[in-house]
Amino acid sequence: MKVDGIPTRTIRSVRGGEAIEIIDQTLLPYRYEKRVLSDWRDCVEAIDSMRVRGAPLIGITGAWAVVLATREDPSNAALIRAAERIQGVRPTAVNLSWAVQRMLTALLPREPALRFEAAVKLAETMTQEDVMCSRAIGEAGAAVITKLYQELRRPLNILTHCNAGWLATVDYGTALAPVYFAFERGIPLHVWVDETRPRNQGLLTAWELGQQGVPHTIIADNAGGHLMQHGDVDAVIVGADRITRRGDVANKIGTYLKALAAKDNDVPFYVAAPSSTIDWKLTDGKREIEIENRSAAEVLSVRGLDHTGHDISVQIASPDESAANPAFDVTHNRFVTGIITERGVFAPTELAAGFQDVIAHAL
Ligand code: MRU
Repeated sequence: MKVDGIPTRTIRSVRGGEAIEIIDQTLLPYRYEKRVLSDWRDCVEAIDSMRVRGAPLIGITGAWAVVLATREDPSNAALIRAAERIQGVRPTAVNLSWAVQRMLTALLPREPALRFEAAVKLAETMTQEDVMCSRAIGEAGAAVITKLYQELRRPLNILTHCNAGWLATVDYGTALAPVYFAFERGIPLHVWVDETRPRNQGLLTAWELGQQGVPHTIIADNAGGHLMQHGDVDAVIVGADRITRRGDVANKIGTYLKALAAKDNDVPFYVAAPSSTIDWKLTDGKREIEIENRSAAEVLSVRGLDHTGHDISVQIASPDESAANPAFDVTHNRFVTGIITERGVFAPTELAAGFQDVIAHAL
């Protein structure tokens, strides 16, 4: 997607895989800066602090972290130790362990001396595959949006939560890819962007929609239900961090409440994600998906620009307050209208039938 009119990806390898370049998303939307990481520990830090974020992108960053670890020490012991650290940084998005395990499975049977070259090649392939998946999700989701437009024959209002756009993937996005594709094809639309406290990923969504010229409005997280009651939302499209075999969906905290409101107001609720986000080993999302708990400080402070334009963080509660910060929630499959994947759109209960070949390898 474009930044200041220039086609840009969120991650790329530099110096033949000896380092990677990322966009430091902790600085957005106030500053757009890139950062070069040449040590796998820096990748771990970048995932942990959310310089890179979004399930598909942390997966790809994890793959590149394995490349950097291989360069440092390609021995079995060192690789396995690094892989454990990398995949343990953030527990909810399955893409991270999926990517790290895929790298290990390919590398460990090889001679250590040949591992770095193979690692670079596979990480490049996975990076490219992520782009292809987002594109296919964009196509499948744009067809859903187009159909809705043909039924309603007026500009559409789509609500999204968190950031599941270009910034959360290598390119195009998951939930936002259908929006970009439909918009580019002339479907008139507008996006309601949930602010998404505490980390305000909605501000990233607004920034990237703005960069592509897509009309949008930021709303407080609690506004969506009201807008749905008044007929101002035609569809909800969100991303996912982990989807179970029966189509339960873990996504950014607050998604579940949007799904409840959508159900009560007959608003279609779509989830867009690549198959690398589906954990075929799990069935019951609420019981089986580990939910990341993040620091209380994220809830007790907000970031923004001061009156001189400096990017600052301010404490919003009295110093003796405590806070709980579950970063994700699970939406049961009964609230999900369809899951938009690189293979098309599936009712949650039909997801497994569409991926029989993948399941055969995953279990
Ligand atoms: O905590 P984050 O910012 O890494 O959150 C992950 C997400 O971006 C969302 O939950 C998103 O909807 C799924 S990833 C495309």
